[in-house]
Amino acid sequence: MKHIYLLAIESSCDDTSVAILKNNRVLSNVVSSQTIHSHYGGVVPELASRAHQQHIIPVIEEALAKANVALENISAIAFTKGPGLMGSLLVGVSFAKSLSLALEIPLIEVNHMHGHLLTHFIEGEKPPTFPFLGVTLSGGHTQILQVEDYFSMKILGQTLDDAIGEAFDKTAKILGLPYPGGIQIDQLAQQGNPLAFSFPIPKVEGLNFSFSGLKTSILYFVQQQTKNNPNFIEENLADICASVQHTIIRLVMQKLSKAVEQTGIKQIAIGGGVSANSGLQKALQQAAQKYAWQVFIPHKSLSTDNAAMIGIAGYFKYQRGVFTNLSVVAQARYNVET
Ligand code: KG4
Ligand code: ZN
Repeated sequence: MKHIYLLAIESSCDDTSVAILKNNRVLSNVVSSQTIHSHYGGVVPELASRAHQQHIIPVIEEALAKANVALENISAIAFTKGPGLMGSLLVGVSFAKSLSLALEIPLIEVNHMHGHLLTHFIEGEKPPTFPFLGVTLSGGHTQILQVEDYFSMKILGQTLDDAIGEAFDKTAKILGLPYPGGIQIDQLAQQGNPLAFSFPIPKVEGLNFSFSGLKTSILYFVQQQTKNNPNFIEENLADICASVQHTIIRLVMQKLSKAVEQTGIKQIAIGGGVSANSGLQKALQQAAQKYAWQVFIPHKSLSTDNAAMIGIAGYFKYQRGVFTNLSVVAQARYNVET
């Protein structure tokens, strides 16, 4: 069989990433993260799209060089169509279109959320079998999906307000930690007591989530405590992080237990930036042992936004002959079920 060489572009948020895949094997996966946003406590869309424009050509060149593949040997271009920030998506979409036009090779659109779930099918990862529960935990999404096939999935539950990554990032902002805060909270939590402070677990029906109330209760708690002790955050940082993380993990684990009970499916594959969280990974491993679940956790380099995940989704579309024409446009809101 002829080998397929894919060039994949991801530019939905604040990482410009390009990967080269040979079939389902990643030859290179270059991610250029934008540091400029750390001053602002969140991604500034206008700055993000400008940085994508500056990064995209050098990142493509680096990905090709690392993979040792020439542009003329590429079989198709895969790109993120959405969901994401419109200005950021536009850079990747326009570039992908021009490249496919210039090279006269097929164009393949990918839903970013499909990419997060399909990372498990990259060579070297442990793949689940269909059907499985796919859980997207990122800065923009929190969903539990029943995944029937590569591109066929049903939403069982999702956040009604903030995404799980936002819960981490907004907590970090309250605590004066730089953006993105998830990783900082994860690291600090490892030295803290998860039961030091208790925060209410948001109560939402069924398999849906809500995180905005938690953020508010953390804010009020910190404001109250700093009134009595201006050094409260400094003196209790690790314990606050551990307690917040513990609350978020408990909430996720409760919903996952419910999803397993409801569907009878015991394979759980997570994806998205928050799937890198060490506390969550530990809780999942423990549950796997206790309840005979099979959990699938992506390699760290594949959990946060990257183009290899877009490439693997593109590979499965290429195999099925599912291509996109040049009239395709970026889609900031893009349902995972379509
Ligand atoms: O999937 P991703 O890279 O981008 C989106 O599609 O949103 O996810 C980014 C999110 C951020 O909110 C970041 O704080 C969070 O993932 N994150 C983490 C960890 N690493 C990244 N959250 C908790 N623990 C981590 N270790
Ligand atoms: Zn993502």
